[in-house]
Amino acid sequence: MSTITLGPARMGDAPAIAHLSRDLIEAELPWSWTPRRVAGLMRQRESAAVIARDQNRLAGFILAQYGDESAHIALLGIANEYRRQGIGRRLVQWVEETAMVAGLFLVRLEVRASKREARHFYARLGYRETDRVDGYYSGLEDAIKMSRDLRALSTSK
Ligand SMILES: CC(C)(COP(=O)(O)OP(=O)(O)OC[C@H]1O[C@@H](n2cnc3c(N)ncnc32)[C@H](O)[C@@H]1OP(=O)(O)O)[C@@H](O)C(=O)NCCC(=O)NCCS
Repeated sequence: MSTITLGPARMGDAPAIAHLSRDLIEAELPWSWTPRRVAGLMRQRESAAVIARDQNRLAGFILAQYGDESAHIALLGIANEYRRQGIGRRLVQWVEETAMVAGLFLVRLEVRASKREARHFYARLGYRETDRVDGYYSGLEDAIKMSRDLRALSTSK
């Protein structure tokens, strides 16, 4: 049985995150989240990168940035063989909890319009579709903007 642990990503994880991101998130698009770009985001002070590990295997990852008014999920991916085990939910919840600790009550993200399963996943987690951006992904595909207001969450706890 696999035991998944969540923990902070290290700089050495950047290439594996970038390669998984290319395969899971950017398939059929130009590869924009290269190891260099992933590492660049991880180096930013107002960012967080958390990975899910199964022993030494990378099962999933989330990269987020924390701004003045909201947190932004830049990348989220779960390897195919680890899906539907609640790992994606745990990673998003981690970002939501750290956002609230930082006094941020809005979490935003963009998702490929064609990614029905991801849109369904986020909707299930309480995210609302707020906008559509034409050609957001290299002019090849639209993005759906989604967000979640965490205020209701913080008062219900
Ligand atoms: C979307 C994604 C992150 C979900 O990760 P996951 O770990 O499998 O999701 P979870 O197991 O936490 O699912 C939580 C709930 O979301 C919904 N959900 C998840 N995957 C779904 C799918 N393929 N179809 C429909 N609903 C889905 C379900 O309601 C699920 O609860 P349930 O399993 O009890 O029914 C994963 O499928 C993925 O990496 N997709 C490719 C990359 C991507 O699109 N990333 C997001 C944009 S950056």
